[in-house]
Amino acid sequence: MQLRNGPQTIGLVTRLLHWGTMLLVVVMLALGNRIADMQPGLDNLWLYGLHKTLGFLVLALTLARIGWHIASPPPPPIGPRDVAHWAARAAHWAFYALLLAIPLTGWAGSSATGIDVMIADRWTVPPLVEASAEAEAFWFRLHDILTKVLFGLVTLHMLAAFKREMDGDGTLTRMLKGRT
Ligand code: HEM
Ligand code: HEM
Repeated sequence: MQLRNGPQTIGLVTRLLHWGTMLLVVVMLALGNRIADMQPGLDNLWLYGLHKTLGFLVLALTLARIGWHIASPPPPPIGPRDVAHWAARAAHWAFYALLLAIPLTGWAGSSATGIDVMIADRWTVPPLVEASAEAEAFWFRLHDILTKVLFGLVTLHMLAAFKREMDGDGTLTRMLKGRT
């Protein structure tokens, strides 16, 4: 079982980070939309706590993923260096940017409420911005917009992966098994 990425193969660490993050992001998009529609109260505070804790986990996994990909770069997309190749690369960079910016805007919006931001109800993280109603509205609006961009990009990325697999280039097989 190869842990590191090769020139044409995707190692176990990258695959676990990819699919683990995917599962978390799907849960987070659903959970975020759920809490945004709720009136915060004592009975549902745990859902906010869960969303924040999992959001920090996504942030930590994304930093780990960037670090790992500096140490062990993943192979380039399969096929010629055409428009689809560069579109795939741009989408991958955009994912990294979004997976950093979304947790940070959620953290900033939560700091702006003036309530302590906690991980797992246990560790308090420092506020990113000063508390104010304007800052809260601004950062949560940005959080909302970026999550919609992420949702759109995930949909396109998934369709592209299925299309390439059906065209027979083995792109999806490589992300699942490590090699085509
Ligand atoms: C990848 C990580 C994250 C994803 C995908 C995500 C996703 C979302 C989504 C889809 C919403 C609903 C937006 C709306 O309809 O207004 C939301 C709301 C929210 N998120 Fe996140 N989020 C993430 C990380 C975080 C983090 C790290 C925090 C705080 C530390 C956070 C705090 C919140 C809060 C408090 C709301 C409710 C905002 C409101 O009441 O308008 N999120 N999130
Ligand atoms: C939240 C959801 C997702 C995110 C954020 C995401 C992000 C990424 C990123 C950044 C890469 C580049 C390699 C890496 O850094 O690991 C990648 C590659 C890939 N993803 Fe996703 N992905 C998501 C969901 C999916 C889904 C649902 C599928 C297919 C069902 C998929 C299939 C692939 C494939 C096949 C590759 C390899 C592409 C290649 O070899 O060029 N991804 N993904």
